[in-house]
Parts: sequence; structure tokens; C-alpha cells
Amino acid sequence: MASYLIIGASSGIGKALALQLANAGHTVFGTFYKTAVQSTHPSIHYANLNVLDENLVFDFLPETLNGIIYCPGSINLRPFERIKAADFTNDYNLQVVGAIKVIQAVISKLKNSENAAIVFFSTLAVQAGLPFHSQVSASKGALEGLTKAMAAEYAPKIRVNCIAPSLTDTPLATALLNTDQKKEINAQRHPLKRIGTAEDIANMAEFLLSEKASWISGQILHVDGGLSTLKVN
Ligand SMILES: NC(=O)c1ccc[n+]([C@@H]2O[C@H](COP(=O)([O-])OP(=O)(O)OC[C@H]3O[C@@H](n4cnc5c(N)ncnc54)[C@H](OP(=O)(O)O)[C@@H]3O)[C@@H](O)[C@H]2O)c1
Repeated sequence: MASYLIIGASSGIGKALALQLANAGHTVFGTFYKTAVQSTHPSIHYANLNVLDENLVFDFLPETLNGIIYCPGSINLRPFERIKAADFTNDYNLQVVGAIKVIQAVISKLKNSENAAIVFFSTLAVQAGLPFHSQVSASKGALEGLTKAMAAEYAPKIRVNCIAPSLTDTPLATALLNTDQKKEINAQRHPLKRIGTAEDIANMAEFLLSEKASWISGQILHVDGGLSTLKVN
């Protein structure tokens, strides 16, 4: 059985993934930032971590990790001209620099594993090109580039992949889904006629971490109800 580090396991996709991995018999070291969370399973161990801190402490981890999943992200949708340079920088620090700092701090533990994998999260907006998404797309586009570069550099020892979801019903997306009308309109935008669940995305992450994905690296996996590629209307 494997040991995984989930950065951001207190909410949304990371929380769902922690439970799935623990239910499958794995050990999960999950972090929270602001949402103090009770463990939902004896194999999920929580620790507090803010990826924006200068020094990240990982003294709660074992010698060997089989995977790292980096969840912190944001969805700030605004017209390009209203976004300050500092807003772009803040997003970049959370979504890209945070991921880099975490992985550099613990990558030696992944190197001790025979099936090591890293999973990042991008967004459908990077490929699709959506208005008002410049802030999030700038950071997530960088994360997609980081995925491919790291996948090449660490092959064959560590696989690195990135999931690009469309709108998924988690606390991060509350402002976009806080009425029945918004939920319905957003569901109808997708060829598969619903919005995503945290479990839809966690399923792909669990697969990418597993031996079943042992010949997959450097990929951007679109889990988006068909929205990025299908034209059905
Ligand atoms: N939901 C969507 O519609 C959607 C769509 C496309 C892409 N994504 C991407 O999918 C990923 C997961 O999204 P989600 O919807 O599951 O988000 P979420 O519900 O907001 O969960 C984010 C997690 O990251 C943690 N976190 C936030 N800031 C942090 C910090 N400074 N230091 C350490 N941890 C921090 C949060 O911890 P606390 O709660 O404890 O503060 C939480 O556990 C994100 O990268 C997001 O951009 C989501």
C-alpha cells in the first residue's frame, strides 16, 4: 500500500481524493490551511501548512512517498484591464511557486518509491480560451508547462501529470454555483449536461497515481464534461 501527500486535503477535490485513497487502503498525509478539518478516516493524517510561507516544514512525512497531489488554486474571474499586476503575482505564487517549493522540499521521498507520481490541477480555460479568465489561465498555463518539463526531467523515475477540470462543485466554485439557476445554466453549457463533482476529478487523480497509469506522463488530462473539445449544439 502507498503513502501520498495531498496539499489541500481539507476541501473539494483534495478532500474527496484523500477519502478515496484511504478507502483503497493507502495512507494519506493531507494538509489544511484555513479549514480546520477532522479526519474522516484513520489512515488520513492532517497537518497545517500555508504554501505561501517562506519555510515549509514536512517533519510529519515518512521517508518514502508514492505521490504528491497539489490542490491549492483560485478562480478569480475579472476583465483583464481590471486585474492588477500584483493579482497575477499572488495567483502565481499560490498555484505555481507553492507547487515548486513543496515538490523541491520532498522530492527525495518520491525518489525512494518504485511508482512515484505527481498530480497538478490546471483548468479547462487554458486550452479553451475563455473571457475573464486571464488571471487563472496565466498561472495554470505555467503549471501545464511545468508539468511537461518536470515529466521529461524525472522520467522514468517519477511520472508528472496535470488534470484540467471544468467547473466542479466545490467550495472554490461557490460564487459560480450558489443558486439553482447558476447550476442549471452551467450544467447546460457542458455537452454531458452537468457540472463536475469533486469525485469526478478525484477519480482521475487516483488513476494517475496508480500502477494502472504507469505508462502515462507529461499529459494534461481534460476532465470537463466534454466542454473543451465537443460541439454538440
Ligand atoms: N472547482 C472548480 O471548479 C475547479 C475548476 C478548474 C480547476 N480547479 C482546480 O482544482 C484544484 C482544487 O480545487 P478545489 O475546487 O478542490 O478547491 P478548494 O475546495 O478551494 O480546495 C483548495 C484546497 O487548497 C488549500 N489551500 C488554499 N490555499 C492554500 C495555501 N495558501 N496553503 C496551503 N493550502 C492552501 C485549501 O485549504 P483550506 O481550505 O484549509 O484553506 C483547500 O484544502 C485547484 O487547483 C483549482 O484551481 C477547480
